[in-house]
Amino acid sequence: MYLGLDLGTSGVKALLMDADQRIVGSGHGSLDVSRPHHGWSEQDPGDWIRATEEAIAELRAAHPREIAAVRGIGLSGQMHGATLLDASGKVLRPCILWNDTRSFAEAAALDADPRFQEITGNIVFPGFTAPKLAWVKANEPEIFAKVAKVLLPKDYLRLWLSGEYISEMSDSAGTSWLDVAARRWSPELLAATGLGTEHMPSLVEGTDRAGALRGELAAKWGMRQGVTIAGGAGDNAASACGMGTVKPGAAFVSLGTSGVLFAANGAYLPNPESAVHTFCHALPNAWHQMGVILSATDSLNWLSTITGKDAAELTRELGDELRAPTGVTFLPYLSGERTPHNDAAIRGSFAGLAHEIDRAGLTQAVLEGVAFAFRDSLEALARAGTTLTRVTAIGGGSRSRYWLKSIATALGLPVEIPADGDFGAAFGAARLGLIATEGADPHQVCTPPATAETIEPVAALAGAYDEAYQRYRKLYPAIRGAM
Ligand code: XUL
Repeated sequence: MYLGLDLGTSGVKALLMDADQRIVGSGHGSLDVSRPHHGWSEQDPGDWIRATEEAIAELRAAHPREIAAVRGIGLSGQMHGATLLDASGKVLRPCILWNDTRSFAEAAALDADPRFQEITGNIVFPGFTAPKLAWVKANEPEIFAKVAKVLLPKDYLRLWLSGEYISEMSDSAGTSWLDVAARRWSPELLAATGLGTEHMPSLVEGTDRAGALRGELAAKWGMRQGVTIAGGAGDNAASACGMGTVKPGAAFVSLGTSGVLFAANGAYLPNPESAVHTFCHALPNAWHQMGVILSATDSLNWLSTITGKDAAELTRELGDELRAPTGVTFLPYLSGERTPHNDAAIRGSFAGLAHEIDRAGLTQAVLEGVAFAFRDSLEALARAGTTLTRVTAIGGGSRSRYWLKSIATALGLPVEIPADGDFGAAFGAARLGLIATEGADPHQVCTPPATAETIEPVAALAGAYDEAYQRYRKLYPAIRGAM
């Protein structure tokens, strides 16, 4: 048995997989995000531990014998968060999350230093880790002075699980401190934020063994002693392992809190100008590119909160047939945007509202707005040298057939739905647990699922979608100045 733990933004998922990669069961623990100020997004690392305990307790209650047979654990997690620890390993302040944009000025200042894009292959986005440390240094100097280690969220979970300070390449690529081609920390970039390699965990590949489960936790959870913990991956690379998106040309669109258009690459292909992210993959000697939009299902959840109807009800009101765009345009920039704008200050908007637009009309515009944001990412990937011919859909939002039709039509690409199953980040993490424990060949393990169904673009609406996309494109430069 292998356990995959995915520390997401809205919860922790624990997934149990057997040696034949069949899913045995899963457990869940919920998490909240605290937004104490405009643009801030934080979580208490103690809550990650509580949610992990809950997820494992649920799994254990249903599958006590299988839990006892766990040989390896893989970790996946929300990327970029800055978890600051003092010399005794104590958390110094709430973790500043991936969608926190407070450090936009620090990010711009670091990005103006050409070494960052040269060495990391990426823009220094405000959501990345280095500018957050620059913000803490400027605004909370007493905390900065005590920082002994900076950990990404899943690596803090690892510290609790194993007592070791270890990270791996895919998540570390999102810190703005990693030399992404050479796969090692850059002392030069760390020094630019007042830090050194001693502040960083040691690095392994995602498929490597990275410590063992503490005896105390193993005893508590009814597991054997010496369970292997794999390097694991940032949640996007972990999802890619779950989806078998490891060979060049393979791609997925992920409809989670954030939206990601992810492409596997055989080589390191940086293109910061396009605002595409170029990161290490979880497999050795592999890289990937992705366009990231900050509010995907978060946009629909926002509409759900203000209408008092849950997301499934809202999408049900639209029916199954794709509707022609109404003239209402939604920009999903509720917490700023990464690809293609790198703009932390921009906020979302509805344009073109009219008397006849009802709640369903707003839902339709929100789903289209997110679909057009993915089209922006598709074009950014093309500028970065990656042309896609089809994508597979994953994430909670992919349960809406309407949304998938809208995305297929906006991208002009077939969208594949995997055969029944759960191929997300927790599954990918469990696969990495298996690889690290058994020394298995990653390419033999990380294979794609069968396709249950392919959603084709709706040809009759291609023209109307193109026009609506052009309206969408014009809106950002028009409102940017007004924010
Ligand atoms: C990727 C990113 C998000 C988080 C979500 O760069 O910021 O996709 O990883 O958990």
